[in-house]
Amino acid sequence: RKQQETAWKNTEVDALYQLRDAGVRVPEPFGYFHGVLVMELVVDADGHSAPRLGEVELSPEMARGFHRFLVRQVVKMLCVGLIHGDLSEYNVLVGPDGPVIIDFPQVVSAAGNNASRSMLLRDVNNLTASLGAWAPELLDTWYGEEMWALYEAGELHPDTELTGTFVHDTTKPDLEGVRHAINDAREEALIRQQGREAAAEMD
Ligand SMILES: Nc1ncnc2c1ncn2[C@@H]1O[C@H](COP(=O)(O)OP(=O)(O)O)[C@@H](O)[C@H]1O
Ligand SMILES: [Mg+2]
Repeated sequence: RKQQETAWKNTEVDALYQLRDAGVRVPEPFGYFHGVLVMELVVDADGHSAPRLGEVELSPEMARGFHRFLVRQVVKMLCVGLIHGDLSEYNVLVGPDGPVIIDFPQVVSAAGNNASRSMLLRDVNNLTASLGAWAPELLDTWYGEEMWALYEAGELHPDTELTGTFVHDTTKPDLEGVRHAINDAREEALIRQQGREAAAEMD
């Protein structure tokens, strides 16, 4: 358990340094003191600890600006091979200079994990859903899908322009699969129907 705890802490502190070096706005790490990771306290304009993204009211313009900024932060992370893994309005603080992503102990390596794509999509979708409450047109964007496709193709760079649109692959519909699903459903309905008829006869 001790070892696991050490690994857990190292993951978070390594991620903080790595992300800071990649130009991602994260709390400045100061190091471990008595087993506690000490970092910059992100504060609001009055010096109080900053509110979470889910606790602030935003104009549509601000929501769009925050979304653009946070999507870029996720791109920069992905470009150094990292996915937050628990990104949501609870793990983004709103400082006077804009959003700061926090809470990295579960950060995952984009390359070494089968679930990477779905984790990335979940992270981006969480942000989009939260900010889409203030700027509904954001709900029609596909930044996660778009950046993952570029990342897989080796074409994602920290400054790659994204459009938010994504063409889903509809060229090869799985006709056999659809046919099987329809047949299965039909068979099941038939069996249920026969069951009902048999039960009715016994009454
Ligand atoms: N660097 C920081 N500056 C200001 N507040 C912070 C900072 N780190 C965490 N917090 C506050 O503490 C809460 C919990 O921290 P977090 O790292 O998200 O841990 P967990 O969600 O695992 O409890 C955050 O939602 C935030 O309000
Ligand atoms: Mg948290």
